[in-house]
Amino acid sequence: MKRKTIIDCDPGIDDSLALILALSSDDIEVLGITIVSGNTPVQMGFENAKKVLKHMQRLDIPIYIGAAVPLTKDYVNALDTHGKDGLGESFLPDVDGYLQDKDAVSFLIETLKKEHCSVIALGPLTNIAQVIMKDPTAFACIDQLISMGGNFRSHGNCSPVAEYNYWEDPDSAALVFQYLAKIQKQIHMIGLDVTRKIVLTPNLLSYIEHLHSYHGTFIKQITKFYFKFHWEWEHIIGCVINDPLAMAFYIQPQICTGFAAYVEIVTDGAARGQSIVDEYGFYKKKANAYVYHQVDTFAFYHLFFERLFQCSKAEIAYLDKLIVKE
Ligand code: BDR
Ligand code: CA
Repeated sequence: MKRKTIIDCDPGIDDSLALILALSSDDIEVLGITIVSGNTPVQMGFENAKKVLKHMQRLDIPIYIGAAVPLTKDYVNALDTHGKDGLGESFLPDVDGYLQDKDAVSFLIETLKKEHCSVIALGPLTNIAQVIMKDPTAFACIDQLISMGGNFRSHGNCSPVAEYNYWEDPDSAALVFQYLAKIQKQIHMIGLDVTRKIVLTPNLLSYIEHLHSYHGTFIKQITKFYFKFHWEWEHIIGCVINDPLAMAFYIQPQICTGFAAYVEIVTDGAARGQSIVDEYGFYKKKANAYVYHQVDTFAFYHLFFERLFQCSKAEIAYLDKLIVKE
């Protein structure tokens, strides 16, 4: 049976790759895509989601525009990372259509109350926090809540201690984690400890182009800028693709290893956005999160290549030679 899913995202280069993975997966039914301001302002994220759906020939999937700004902080985009158009300066043509009959938060609330479904959150948690504020019973209906965000032992990517999605709207992230503690549920936190290991290298990109020129051309167009950014800022040849790992974990949880813990998000000051993981139980609070700190990079790429390019065993064996071992 297909798993009913809502993808909340801020596309964004790596968000787009996560969408492509979900839409290449027969066991996932995407009920809708909700957009939040993050990497890109919501309107641009909406346009980019349409471009991805057009590429996937899935313009039947609804997209809803959500929060334009964080709960209390000023909005800071990440176009320095994702390019002026949020899709690596690919400047793909706009896609018409999609009249908005409701906003993202209303869609989330209605759908969560009606369907047994999971939410994969790939951007700041503003829309999700607004669900809690408007209708906590709807939030409690979420089957699995997976968030790409935070960090445990790894350093941050937009401050020494904070990951972008939680830094961008720390108040929303804090509210989500606090509310989970209250209702004794857990979020799956796919943070930088694991996503940093998922590097799309030039070799892998080149292999993708050989395997599947349709996806290969698209992925090359949107990741070119990201490659440049990663070299300039992190001296990485290739680019870290965070969000597809959250999607891959949803499909195949064994890809990541982690533990249950109480997590608190810092909202202000030098540690804004930091996810404090109480690994040793100092706070004596019940776990509100599963924190993942190890990832099987090979398993991730096997899944990604099998789903997107329907690779044969021989093609997967060749893939293994291209994955950089740590
Ligand atoms: C996260 O922030 C964005 O740049 C990516 O899309 C990802 O969701 C990584 O910190
Ligand atoms: Ca994202």
